[in-house]
This record gives sequence, structure tokens and C-alpha cells, in this order.
Amino acid sequence: MSAQRVVVLISGRGSNLGALIAAGLPVSAVLSNRADAPGLALAQSHGIATESLSPRDYPDRTSFDRALSERIDHYRPDLVVLAGYMRILSDEFVMHYQGRLINIHPSLLPSYPGMDTHARALSDGVKVHGCTVHFVIPELDSGPIIMQAGVPVHADDSVNSLTERVLAAEHHIYPQAIAWYLQDRLTVDAQGRVNVAGVSPMAQSVLMLDVATEGG
Ligand code: GAR
Repeated sequence: MSAQRVVVLISGRGSNLGALIAAGLPVSAVLSNRADAPGLALAQSHGIATESLSPRDYPDRTSFDRALSERIDHYRPDLVVLAGYMRILSDEFVMHYQGRLINIHPSLLPSYPGMDTHARALSDGVKVHGCTVHFVIPELDSGPIIMQAGVPVHADDSVNSLTERVLAAEHHIYPQAIAWYLQDRLTVDAQGRVNVAGVSPMAQSVLMLDVATEGG
């Protein structure tokens, strides 16, 4: 079998990217819509190719996304991974990578699509929050769910403390979901449900309980 290739798209910090690299996943290149994304330096420090394209250099979303996919395709990826990529993608882009484009979103979808998920969860008083890895379809923050992790919401949580707890869960499930993809274990049934060959269906749902960290 030839070597596998994953291209990661980021817009910022790149902590999920760091988790993928730490897990030994075959990240060939990291691309960003922001030249100052800290995750680009992280990738470079691991000898991974990086590129950035500025949306300001293109007249519209379609032309930017076409340029982006040209650069992505240069690396001939088996899988394209969105890891904190904060731009809406054109339908054309999404369809081009159909079935090989996945995203991590900081909520238990279908709850809280879109932005500010942690603040919205806190203000609703939900007791369990979390993150979702899913295949990308044209509809925003939808698409077949590969894996989810739930975390408790504490009464005294701030957006920062909840963000941190969810991020730890993200770093746990994203490498696993990508590994399953690369092992060719994932199938999507007619209802849009994702099955993972050879592992218990329980492995797709993770509960990250952190009650032991409260000092008693
Ligand atoms: C993560 O929480 C990820 O789930 C979120 O951005 C953050 C990126 O952090 N993605 C989205 O909100 C996409 N809609 P990172 O740059 O440290 O990986």
C-alpha cells in the first residue's frame, strides 16, 4: 500500500493539528486562509509543508476555494481535515472532496451549529457539552457523525474553562476518527449513519468525565 496523505486546513492556533501530529498521522501539508495562523509555525517545526492563501486576493468565495483546492490537490490527499478552519466552504469545494473531507466542531451536533458554541451552551444551562467529528456536506455543521465526546458542564464554568475541557476531548477523538478513516473502516449507511468496521459501536461515543480534578 502506498503512503497515505492527509492535508489539514487551519485558521488559527492549531491545537487539534498538534494532536494529529502527536498521534503520528501522515500530515503532508497544512494550509491556511491566514498567513499569521500560529498552527503554520507548529507544522513547520515538524518539517511539514505549509501554505497560506489570502481571501483578499480573490474576488469571491468560489474563486478562492478553487485556488485553495488546486493547492490541496497538489498534495494528492487521501483525506482533507478541517481543524479550526473558520471559513464557510463553497458547495463546489465540498462536493469536490465528498466523502474525504471531515471536520471537528465544538458542540454535540446537531446542538449548537455555528459560532460561540461554548457561550451558548453555558447560557442555556446545559449539563453536558462536547464535540463532534463529522463528514462535511454543503449544509454547515451537518453531515454524517463519525464520533462524539461529551464533557460535563460545571456550575462555575467560564467560557475559557469549558473551552479547555472540550478541547481536551477534541484532541482525544480527532486522531482516532482520522485513523479509522485511513484504515478504511468507515462506511455511511443510507440514513447517513456512520459505522466503523471492526470496533464496537460504543467506541464512537466518548464520555470524558473529569470529576477527579476537583480536589475531592
Ligand atoms: C476547535 O475548538 C474546533 O473545534 C473549532 O475551532 C477550534 C480550533 O482550535 N472549530 C470550529 O469552530 C469550526 N466550526 P485549534 O486551532 O486549537 O485546533
